[in-house]
Amino acid sequence: MTSVGASPFLRPSGLSTATRSSPADDGRLHFPPDFLWGAATSAYQIEGAADEDGRTPSIWDTFSATPGRVHHGDTGAIAVDHYHRFRDDVTLMRDLGLTAYRFSVSWPRVQPTGHGPAVERGLDFYRQLVDTLLEAGITPVATLYHWDLPQELEDAGGWPARDTAERFGAYAALVAEALGDRVKRWTTLNEPWCSAFLGYGSGVHAPGRTDPGDALRAAHHLNLGHGHAAAALRATVRDLHLSVSLNLHQVIPLTDSAADAEAARRIDAVGNRIFLGPMLHGRYDEDLLRDTAHLVDWDRLIHSGDAATAHAPLDAVGINYYTPAWVSADGPSSSAVHGTSSASPWPGSESVAFHQPAGPTSTMGWPINADGLFGLLSRVHEERPDLPLLITENGMACEDYPNPEGEVRDPERIAYLHDHLAAVHRALSEGIDVHGYFQWSFMDNFEWAYGYAKRFGMVYVDFATQRRTPKSSAYWYAEVARHGAIPRPEQ
Ligand code: FCB
Repeated sequence: MTSVGASPFLRPSGLSTATRSSPADDGRLHFPPDFLWGAATSAYQIEGAADEDGRTPSIWDTFSATPGRVHHGDTGAIAVDHYHRFRDDVTLMRDLGLTAYRFSVSWPRVQPTGHGPAVERGLDFYRQLVDTLLEAGITPVATLYHWDLPQELEDAGGWPARDTAERFGAYAALVAEALGDRVKRWTTLNEPWCSAFLGYGSGVHAPGRTDPGDALRAAHHLNLGHGHAAAALRATVRDLHLSVSLNLHQVIPLTDSAADAEAARRIDAVGNRIFLGPMLHGRYDEDLLRDTAHLVDWDRLIHSGDAATAHAPLDAVGINYYTPAWVSADGPSSSAVHGTSSASPWPGSESVAFHQPAGPTSTMGWPINADGLFGLLSRVHEERPDLPLLITENGMACEDYPNPEGEVRDPERIAYLHDHLAAVHRALSEGIDVHGYFQWSFMDNFEWAYGYAKRFGMVYVDFATQRRTPKSSAYWYAEVARHGAIPRPEQ
């Protein structure tokens, strides 16, 4: 097994005895016994079967079929064929000792036009998936929306149109009705920031539109859609455990200057508080409304009652974390973490520059920094100490390949996972209630605009043969899940 290596993060002296180690002090940092050891995927990235059993195109089918949008012209039409291989995939999850699995439901598979009744064959797929998970002793965690809006709804205006939020609530009710007897843990939206600002702002994600006002309108309707879906789930699912998955930005000003602090404030507003505000506190902050007032008429956009709708009771907040954002007041930017486009994903704050400090990066070019995860956990805990937290995504893309012996060795990923889990452990030891960790991703898959060029999986997939091979990090993670502990970092 690959050794973990020194971690820049280590502060073992700050750890309390509660989670620091077992009574026998077996050299490991222990997590709570009911901690969820999971992995995550999403429908469009893995299922394939794009036109089977009544499914119709989503915005990602359209976008990836448009020349120049996705690396190599790759699409999710086949992806990793999970739709047909889910039983084997769940067996692999069980063999690797996962205790939870986060997947998403494909809206166009379940309600192809975004209106009307559900397609039973589409729901059956998820019923079977969930039953297979439960038989394997794996807790299912269902995400209602991971970016695959039915194309018909986009044609009717997409997320910038208020009706899409209502449609999302109705779709949520259908899915809750079908699966709510066996799925108790739900997440409404995955990373609404990306849906709004990469989809309608910079256009690097589907549907590829570039209008800052529409991006802000989309954000508001995603907040509203979250609220409608939360209400539908609450009304239907007994013993519901409800969360939302936010890709919060750990925003770090490049220098101590007042100008850089102001840049950080702006990015925190439109990158984080635009969702944290309505969902956790029932309001938009004044500074956000001021920064963007020239782009959207908030008074018209926000109807009375919207704040209460978006502020639906939650049982946990899901945090997706990959890398921090270093910002300064002026350019040029040296970081392209959110892709490259001539249009900005930061409406009203287009002049803020993003930086990439020297140091290790993943093959996405994203700086590796486990402190950022600790920072986000602390921040959300401070804002809402009553809400438990989940890490609903965290992981790393590496240059994975099978060696001549057929093994896929990924020591960099093991080090990454170790350091980020150590950050979670530190949060736990400081009294922050973290319920689980979901590695992105269970297996290699369609990485959005990067197509099949980036591998995030615990399990290597040969895309031509669909053969699955667990990477060495998968065996490492299996050990972690089995012991409920990570090796104590080297001092
Ligand atoms: C997140 C997405 C997920 C995957 C990872 C790498 O933003 O939610 O689907 O693409 O990034």
